Amino acid sequence: MIEPVPGLRLFPGMLDRAAQESLLAAVREVVRAAPLFTPRMPRSGKPFSVAMTNCGPLGWVSGRDGYRYQPVHPETGKPWPPIPAGLTAIWQTVAGCPGLPQACLVNHYAPQARMGLHVDRDERDFTAPVVSVSLGDTCVFRYGGTERKDPTRSLKLNSGDVLVIGGAARLIHHGVDRIISGTSTLLSQPGRINLTLRRVDPVDE
Ligand code: SIN
Ligand code: FE2
Repeated sequence: MIEPVPGLRLFPGMLDRAAQESLLAAVREVVRAAPLFTPRMPRSGKPFSVAMTNCGPLGWVSGRDGYRYQPVHPETGKPWPPIPAGLTAIWQTVAGCPGLPQACLVNHYAPQARMGLHVDRDERDFTAPVVSVSLGDTCVFRYGGTERKDPTRSLKLNSGDVLVIGGAARLIHHGVDRIISGTSTLLSQPGRINLTLRRVDPVDE
């Protein structure tokens, strides 16, 4: 485990190839039930370059009217499919949180897609970390501090890596500069899939 800044914990290669393949099969099931959609920026309505869907009781969506968590797919109106058991097991291994994840955002990056610097702060409680799992091509992941003007650094996220954004790092700025095509043979097409597990509500004990 590598902790580049307190609370940002990287587990390189936590998933071996077989585990990546079985997780990918589960993600394909999720996408069959809840098709990828193109979110839009609040206000401007500009489309994201990343296609998204979700699994779990809640899913993160973005539209002209803002960001929110909701129990149904914005286009089909159907509940999100359940979080695959293998993903919940990863959460239980690394999150250090007694509650189960409530939302899993599935991000699909085509080779030219990127994600601007942002903070994950639409949750109602920040005690639990965000747990991120990478599949497919390597990306250049950028992270900074809690202030937008804080200096940033980058690290590479490879297929099978698990990154925990928690503790003192829970509200740091982060994003994806670019995808490095041809770095993984996991997906049938160039690109990357990122899964982020979150809790939205505090765990009541
Ligand atoms: C995110 O911040 O939602 C995704 C980060 C990533 O794709 O690694
Ligand atoms: Fe994020």
